[in-house]
Amino acid sequence: MGEEFPHKPAGKPPLASAVEMMHLVLPNHANQLGNVLGGQLMQWMDIAAALAAMRHAGKVCVTAAVDSISFLEPIRIGHIVHIFATVNRAFRTSMEVGVKVFREDPINGTRTHAASAYLTFVAIDQYGKPLPVPPVEPQTLEEQRRWQEAEFRRQQRLQQREYLRQLRQQHAADVSQASEELR
Ligand SMILES: CC(C)(COP(=O)(O)OP(=O)(O)OC[C@H]1O[C@@H](n2cnc3c(N)ncnc32)[C@H](O)[C@@H]1OP(=O)(O)O)[C@@H](O)C(=O)NCCC(=O)NCCS
Repeated sequence: MGEEFPHKPAGKPPLASAVEMMHLVLPNHANQLGNVLGGQLMQWMDIAAALAAMRHAGKVCVTAAVDSISFLEPIRIGHIVHIFATVNRAFRTSMEVGVKVFREDPINGTRTHAASAYLTFVAIDQYGKPLPVPPVEPQTLEEQRRWQEAEFRRQQRLQQREYLRQLRQQHAADVSQASEELR
């Protein structure tokens, strides 16, 4: 971390890398109630988000984190799943991708927001070393809002990681001290 890249790549609008995927829910995607399995939906969401990240970065990207995943409504066998993935903001080597899932009933045409999540992807080289990514240039007010919120969520993620790291360090020190005292 902390390494500076001399040539920052040119920015790209979110629309240039946005991804829309559709799936028909079949029995092999569902549980015994006929609803899509959470893990199946997460796989579809991860793939859509990875495609958006790789399109934006122009590089191979890996999932570093998934957060704020919400399953809002059940999706049933016979429904159509629409997945929209957009790169909300790029940082140094990482990107936040927002994924929104809708279920469509093909018989009556209704569409309902069924799930959403934020995923962080990191662009890497063939040795797994993180590589710089182009900035996101929001074009619309909605894209601007997502871009601003992404920075807030990144700060929350980094603070949470650091807080948990310190807690674990303190716990390890406490355990070590307690075992010393028992000797
Ligand atoms: C993601 C990965 C490449 C990061 O490598 P690393 O050596 O920790 O790299 P760094 O510490 O330099 O971090 C690189 C970037 O990733 C971000 N990052 C790393 N771990 C993260 C996490 N858990 N959550 C959010 N961001 C994370 C850092 O904030 C940094 O972002 P920035 O460059 O935009 O500031 C590495 O941990 C990895 O390969 N993980 C496995 C990925 C994988 O296999 N995914 C599929 C899982 S099934």
